[in-house]
Amino acid sequence: MNIVPETAPFSREQRAWLNGFLAASLFDRLGSMPLGTPTSGSPLPAAPPRGLWVGYGSQSGSASGLAKKLAKSAESKGFVVTLRELSQITPEELAAQERLLVVTSTWGDGEPPDNATAFWSRLSEQSAPRLGSLRYSVLGLGDRNYADFCGAARRIDERLAALGARCLVARAECDGGDRAPFTAWADAVWQSFATESEGSVAPVSGVPVPRTVTALAHAPESEAVLPASPWTRRNPYPARLREARRLNGDGSAKDTRHIELVLGDSSLTYEVGDALGVQPSNDPALVAEVVEALGWGPMGSGLLDTPVLEDSVTLQEALMTRWVLTQPSPALLKRLAERARGSLLAELLEPARRSDLESWLVGRDVVDALKAAPGAGIEIAELGSLLRPLPPRLYSIASSLKAHPGEVHLTVGTVRYEAHGRSRHGVASCWLADRVVPGETPVPVFVQVSRHFRPPTDPSRPMIMVGPGTGIAPFRAFLQERRAVGAPGKNWLFFGDQRRSSDYLYASELDPLHRDGFLTRLDLAFSRDQESKVYVQDRMREQSQALWQWLEEGAHFYVCGDARRMAKDVEAALLTVIRTAGGRTEEQASEYLESLQTEGRYQKDVY
Ligand SMILES: Cc1cc2nc3c(=O)[nH]c(=O)nc-3n(C[C@H](O)[C@H](O)[C@H](O)COP(=O)(O)OP(=O)(O)OC[C@H]3O[C@@H](n4cnc5c(N)ncnc54)[C@H](O)[C@@H]3O)c2cc1C
Ligand SMILES: Cc1cc2nc3c(=O)[nH]c(=O)nc-3n(C[C@H](O)[C@H](O)[C@H](O)COP(=O)(O)O)c2cc1C
Repeated sequence: MNIVPETAPFSREQRAWLNGFLAASLFDRLGSMPLGTPTSGSPLPAAPPRGLWVGYGSQSGSASGLAKKLAKSAESKGFVVTLRELSQITPEELAAQERLLVVTSTWGDGEPPDNATAFWSRLSEQSAPRLGSLRYSVLGLGDRNYADFCGAARRIDERLAALGARCLVARAECDGGDRAPFTAWADAVWQSFATESEGSVAPVSGVPVPRTVTALAHAPESEAVLPASPWTRRNPYPARLREARRLNGDGSAKDTRHIELVLGDSSLTYEVGDALGVQPSNDPALVAEVVEALGWGPMGSGLLDTPVLEDSVTLQEALMTRWVLTQPSPALLKRLAERARGSLLAELLEPARRSDLESWLVGRDVVDALKAAPGAGIEIAELGSLLRPLPPRLYSIASSLKAHPGEVHLTVGTVRYEAHGRSRHGVASCWLADRVVPGETPVPVFVQVSRHFRPPTDPSRPMIMVGPGTGIAPFRAFLQERRAVGAPGKNWLFFGDQRRSSDYLYASELDPLHRDGFLTRLDLAFSRDQESKVYVQDRMREQSQALWQWLEEGAHFYVCGDARRMAKDVEAALLTVIRTAGGRTEEQASEYLESLQTEGRYQKDVY
């Protein structure tokens, strides 16, 4: 008997069980034979399905992707899955659940991603409920280059345990793009669920119709309707560069580029707020230095043609496009220290010298590491296991497809500095700025969907954007998009950099937008144009009353750019505005900010 419509957001198993359940309920109520006979495909299952909550914290989509995968596998195993962003889960709801899987990345300096911060602050409260009936496991995504590796995942794990929840499978952690820990962890989780005693597990209480949300039902509209792009991180599209124009004027200390890429016949699409993944190539000069430091003789020796990876990828190609050369991996350091006993590196790797090693590593690359362990004799065959895969870099998209069909624009700050007597170059930013030949060199790209960073869906809502430096990028795109669709909402931009004369990025676009009133307000902060430094957060405080008024009118508040200092200072300024202009206490101001966040009206794209 099919009571649940085919279009309802349930898996086949869930629908079958629900049909059976509802038929049985009707039978009970009517005290007679069930209406009709159950369809052959939907017999009453012996045991009701088990409920499983999957909560994810994700900034740029990796953790949410894994969480969705997990949810799908769970559904295929017969679980009734509730998939939610962590901040959409309250501890009180968890107290009534039996199974929870958390997948979260870590951002900033060891903080949870934006869509997990409200969850974390509620979970950390003293008044958080006991979670005695909950069994859980946590998967962390992070990057060992950060001091607090997978810190958010670790803290959530520890807090869940402290609240009485029982950890089913020990926390696993994925470093960079390595997904092997995820696979092993998921296997262990399924195994542990499989050995749960069926009898002792209570069924999902009641008919889970209103509370059960499947992965598909929770996917945002844009993701649900867009056909999957063939161009992904693993299969990037070879775009072509049109230009890499310098945005800074003479005398600037910075070199920020306006990058325009042509998407050709890719039919690659994106939404404003998304980021573009760019898979760069290493600097050939650095490759030559690495080869020399490896001590295998001159470049022309023929060794560079040796196949070192699958598909006959040669050493030359691997060094150029596959491996990280700008930072030595822990595996390389360890191997070098083992082979070159008594060397500086061997000394630095002594456990007692950990903090010395950390300081030594700042600004040092593979060449420095090889030179600090002379005679270590690294062989070609072992290089692949000692160098890390070269990860793509993300860039906030600075254009709207509505304004620039078939193109994607970026605002890229080139990274150049001197360290330990050699000049160093950011891999991707300097590749785009210096070595990609317009119209010729393929630039492998993919779109990283950032569904937490979007202009207001209601086009009449005001929008406040704080984007100093390269943080301007997504707001250029937001403004283009809003202009293209004729959004009537007010727009306010805070922009800042060092000097107005040389660092006012996109002045020739922003000034006219401001003059004709589309950019309702434009506040600029040039830190070095006067004695005392002035930053965007200072401009925000100066405009407290107006900012408060916009927030009360329902404005969405956005910040993009530097995560380490700027985004924190901007948040502090926002809290000050809420306190002073809004007449709130410190605690009330935090609650106000939290509610902005949960309503999706405070969104960050910080790096
Ligand atoms: C979601 C997201 C959006 C982003 N959007 C943008 C954007 O719109 N525009 C933009 O320009 N960037 C953006 N970035 C940053 C971008 O992804 C790259 O990290 C940046 O361009 C540097 O990459 P690179 O390959 O050029 O440098 P890398 O080769 O990765 O080198 C950078 C590293 O060099 C080291 N370093 C830098 N300066 C020094 C120094 N003085 N001394 C010692 N070590 C130093 C640091 O370890 C630093 O991490 C974004 C990042 C994210 C995650
Ligand atoms: C600006 C920035 C800050 C980060 N901070 C940390 C950190 O403190 N600790 C960590 O382990 N990983 C850190 N990471 C790495 C991310 O957690 C990692 O890239 C993760 O895969 C992102 O997953 P997501 O796309 O689901 O957010 C940081 C990454 C960025 C770009």
